[in-house]
Amino acid sequence: MSISPTNPSVSSTSEAHPAEPVTLKTLKRMKRKAEPFACLACYDATSARWLERAGVHVLLAGDSAAQVVLGYDRTIDMPIDFAIEITAAIKRGAPRTLIMADMPFMSYHTSVETAMSNAARFMKQGNADVIKLESDETFAPLVAHMTRAGIPICAHIGCKPQTSSITGGPMAAGRTADQLTQVVRDAKALEEAGSVLLLIEAVPEQVTQAVMKAVSIPVIGIGAGTGCDGQILVVNDLLGLTDQPPRFAQAVETFGPRLKAAGQEWVKRVRSGTIGGQAYTMRDGEFEKLSPSELPQDHQPTN
Ligand code: KIV
Repeated sequence: MSISPTNPSVSSTSEAHPAEPVTLKTLKRMKRKAEPFACLACYDATSARWLERAGVHVLLAGDSAAQVVLGYDRTIDMPIDFAIEITAAIKRGAPRTLIMADMPFMSYHTSVETAMSNAARFMKQGNADVIKLESDETFAPLVAHMTRAGIPICAHIGCKPQTSSITGGPMAAGRTADQLTQVVRDAKALEEAGSVLLLIEAVPEQVTQAVMKAVSIPVIGIGAGTGCDGQILVVNDLLGLTDQPPRFAQAVETFGPRLKAAGQEWVKRVRSGTIGGQAYTMRDGEFEKLSPSELPQDHQPTN
């Protein structure tokens, strides 16, 4: 199956998606004009292709793939090779969309050298436009190092799922005055270190407002109120495929029950033997038209 973005039945551009590729300049311009931009975490080329057609500005190859795609309980189980592979797949599906890649747990913690070579893999093999790191102010030196080398960083602050083993599960951040002050310090330090974007997760609206006042780079929110420059969700939550979505994730579709109904219909057709019609087989005569080299091994003519 082709993943070409040109499908005659669907326009490859939309009102929402600018004709030119979305870059960091696009996001800065949108921030200046107070035009919110839309981001989604997604995991494959086909979804990316449709989401680009929909006008989504940023696609994240999220480490939530560990849960959503691979069925693990935690994002820390995300394998780095798989993360790079899906980043490249998303870019192939949505070449005009800004593609951000999540660096997985422990791929940027053990040394600057390892962090740099892993980030380089995301940019060169994964074709990522921006690399996202779950971080706080202590990561500022690493962000500065990466920035000097030409790696654009989105600093993910607030609730950081990769560290949730410490708290015994995901926790909202910034719930006290001290925590609010810390999140703002993180935001400022990471902007000063060169981050090109911030992503702030699961904080009260006041924290978002304080961060928005403190920094000038575009800020993407998830469960952080409506005051950010952009908003992000996990595409499976948006589609209604998640059994227990987070409180802030409002589904706009019911693909879970629809997928189930389609599966049930397929089971019904197979079991009732109603799939034997023309549509399920090759047309008469096509077998003879196949050249010998197209025949399966055990049907090759013998001399
Ligand atoms: O991996 C992910 O899905 C994320 C969210 C913040 C969107 O990082």
